[in-house]
Amino acid sequence: MRLGELAVEVRVVEAGDSPSAFVVLEQVAAEREFPTLMPGDEALVLLTSPPPQYRFSCLSCVEGDEVIGAAWLTWSLAENQHLLVADIAVDAAHRRLGAGSALLDAVRAEGVKGGRSVLLGETFSPYGAEVGPGSAFAAARGFISQYAALHQVLDYPVAGLSEKALEVAPHHRDYTFVTWHGECPAEYVEDFCGMLSLVDEEVPLDELEIEPKRWTPERLRSVEAHRRTQGRFASTTVAVAPGGSLAGYTELTGSPQRSGRLDQRDTLVRPEHRGHRLGLALKITNLQALQARTQAPATIHTWNAEANSPMIAVNNHLGFRPVEHQHVWVNQLAV
Ligand SMILES: CC(C)(COP(=O)(O)OP(=O)(O)OC[C@H]1O[C@@H](n2cnc3c(N)ncnc32)[C@H](O)[C@@H]1OP(=O)(O)O)[C@@H](O)C(=O)NCCC(=O)NCCS
Repeated sequence: MRLGELAVEVRVVEAGDSPSAFVVLEQVAAEREFPTLMPGDEALVLLTSPPPQYRFSCLSCVEGDEVIGAAWLTWSLAENQHLLVADIAVDAAHRRLGAGSALLDAVRAEGVKGGRSVLLGETFSPYGAEVGPGSAFAAARGFISQYAALHQVLDYPVAGLSEKALEVAPHHRDYTFVTWHGECPAEYVEDFCGMLSLVDEEVPLDELEIEPKRWTPERLRSVEAHRRTQGRFASTTVAVAPGGSLAGYTELTGSPQRSGRLDQRDTLVRPEHRGHRLGLALKITNLQALQARTQAPATIHTWNAEANSPMIAVNNHLGFRPVEHQHVWVNQLAV
């Protein structure tokens, strides 16, 4: 395909190919102050050893011998089999020449071939700044923004947790907290799966229509096992109500290969247990438990819908600061 001065070809990246496509994805991600894309070597592993319920693929946009753009595709194999999630990146020196559009056309073709009907993409812009090239590109190519999230970060280890724990303790005297690093204790598995299945329904997602994930004990165990084989770790804390049932949970994950980064994953307090400052107490307890094991400095990342003021207020109280806006864009695929 000839695009102005560019003659490009879009190819599917195979597991044994050179990692140039991942280098472009990494370089484009590094334009952000806090890039959150996984490193290329991890992405390569995911092509051949994906976690359960997912498949990944990659396209490269080549001009002559040079890879100038790439698209990373995430295919859910459990829920949301109508969706294809694409990260498209074009090397900064080759933009506005149609490479992004060529990649998008190829992504669409892959989606249709794979039986997907909706294409999802995300863009990032610095906190408080004008929208960047990703948003301009998505809007120009007919995508609609359906979800706006705030990316916040916090330096780890986190100072002042004991004082904060004392402040909130009077609000949840009837609840206890249990933390695990790795496998969910057998006695909580059923109840914990119930909370994991509820979280996608409870988390505000603006206009985005996503099927909630359904968790079974088998699914939980297979995800834990995959995390172990990848060398990643999780710190999970649950709140236990007076009768012994689970009232809420929170989870932080990390990987020794990326020691400078921790991800604050989902936090849920069941609706009937809200109003006891459990959201804050769960996060404090989970951080205290992790800090008792490691003090290695890191940045904790978290994302929440801009509309999710209760969770953002909890994060602000812990000292998180906003760094980026994330938008999720949606476009129909003609099947
Ligand atoms: C978004 C991105 C992939 C676009 O790549 P590209 O090769 O420059 O895109 P194209 O040349 O095909 O642009 C197609 C149209 O999108 C719009 N567009 C793209 N970049 C734009 C910008 N910076 N400002 C305004 N409009 C822009 C224009 O309408 C453009 O057509 P035109 O050049 O004829 O006016 C590239 O800027 C990039 O890698 N950005 C960082 C990563 C990212 O945000 N990806 C999000 C997509 S999932």
